[in-house]
Amino acid sequence: RRIAFVGSECYPFVKTGGLGDVMYALPRALVTRDCEVRVILPLYACIPAKYKEKLEYKGSFMMDQTSDGRNFYVGIMELEMDGVIYDFIDNREFFDWGNPYTGLWEDIPKYCFFAKASLAILNYLDWAPDVIHCHDWQGSLVPLYKRTKFWNSPVGKAKTVLTIHNLRFQGICSIEHLKYWSGLRDDLFDYPVLKHNEDEANMFKGGLAFADRITTVSETYAQEIQTPAFGEGLDAHLRYHSPRLKGIVNGIDVEQWDPAKDALLATPYDVENAVERKKENKRALQEKLGLTQDDRKMVIGLISRLTDQKGLDLVDAIFPQLIDGNTQVAVLGTGDPRYESAFRWFEGQYKGDVCAYISYNEVLAHAIYAGADAFLVPSLFEPCGLTQLIAMRYGTAPIVRETGGLKDTVQPFRGDLKEGNGFTFDRYDANLLLEAVNQAKTVFFTDRGAWDEMVRRNMRKDVSWEQSAEKYLSLYDEVIK
Ligand code: ADP
Ligand code: GLC
Repeated sequence: RRIAFVGSECYPFVKTGGLGDVMYALPRALVTRDCEVRVILPLYACIPAKYKEKLEYKGSFMMDQTSDGRNFYVGIMELEMDGVIYDFIDNREFFDWGNPYTGLWEDIPKYCFFAKASLAILNYLDWAPDVIHCHDWQGSLVPLYKRTKFWNSPVGKAKTVLTIHNLRFQGICSIEHLKYWSGLRDDLFDYPVLKHNEDEANMFKGGLAFADRITTVSETYAQEIQTPAFGEGLDAHLRYHSPRLKGIVNGIDVEQWDPAKDALLATPYDVENAVERKKENKRALQEKLGLTQDDRKMVIGLISRLTDQKGLDLVDAIFPQLIDGNTQVAVLGTGDPRYESAFRWFEGQYKGDVCAYISYNEVLAHAIYAGADAFLVPSLFEPCGLTQLIAMRYGTAPIVRETGGLKDTVQPFRGDLKEGNGFTFDRYDANLLLEAVNQAKTVFFTDRGAWDEMVRRNMRKDVSWEQSAEKYLSLYDEVIK
């Protein structure tokens, strides 16, 4: 099978969140299962030089893009890594600034061009995929271009799968703006496809209408987005298209995230020595973050984009109650200034027990996953969530709200049954979060045997792509038939 991935970010070249991890890990899982995979990405200015230097020029051409027929340069720069081919689309006007996103006004033209150029380069490279797997609103015009401008070309025979990683972002703008930059036919700007309301168009909505299959990144989120509370205005549209919609939970790349071989840790560890060695990692983390060094304290980690999605107002509300002399909190994240300054303020208030590291830092992320005892993910909504999976892989107990992928991947701790992976709560309510944290503290401080068993259980849990890659393969095969 030949599969082309089209999306706006991919680790290790460019990553702002979980989409970047999936664009990296799923293709790698597929190439070991009888697939040829090409990943198509924009050649952003922010891609590190060490990768740019390795790119090989594969050709270029001019492509008409706008409704008035303006032509733009499309260059193809290629790189192979562990059997996956990465094709970067080179065009400075669109991609040489903005790392990778800027503002929606500029992002709309950028990803119109990206979607169309992705199909054009596949034809140019003479590589006809069986399936084009597109991701989020940035990849969502691919099914529309495929069925219109490219229908009578080699790439027109491919089937399309569109995955929803986050429905909150849809690529909404004035009809005029999208008509101009997409160059798509007027009749597509009607309610069943691209029309959002009287004045606006919606790129994601159009892609969902035209894709052969729609997936999202957990079964629970697949149900949730068909309701007004989670549907972000598209719930009716998704209910209508639900026969083509399926939830497949994400995994993580268990080689990239492997506590036994992780060179970024103070001390690597496996299931057998985790309990002791996690303490060493905890002390190293405390030292790194300027926290009081004491491995008896419970360290709670939080690594996140600091946005409303992540439930940070609940954390904010209970913060003073989290800190009790025996507990420390390590926050790593950037985003909304409101949350950045709240966490900075708490760091000042509770010197030695709280660290707010306001930045994006992969090295520190590894140190927190390994050195923390528990990990907070109290999200308002969470399509899948990868941080709770990484935390479990590192023997760190997640404390999560039962929504989306968090609900599907974290089973509540049951001491009596010796089961469960972490601590959960259902309603979006700060008191319930506090109860869950307190339950974690009780087990940690009063029943260490049960806690340590959970550490080992979590490290043994299958959070890899094994099962989900197979589900994608079945889906591809089904749609190819
Ligand atoms: P989302 O995609 O909504 O941000 P996910 O849980 O799916 O949430 O993925 C987040 C990914 O980004 C994880 O790999 C996490 O480790 C990483 N991440 C988030 N914030 C930071 C940060 N400040 N520094 C390093 N890594 C981060
Ligand atoms: C989105 C979601 C997150 C998910 C990720 C990868 O960014 O917010 O929940 O894990 O995509 O699918």
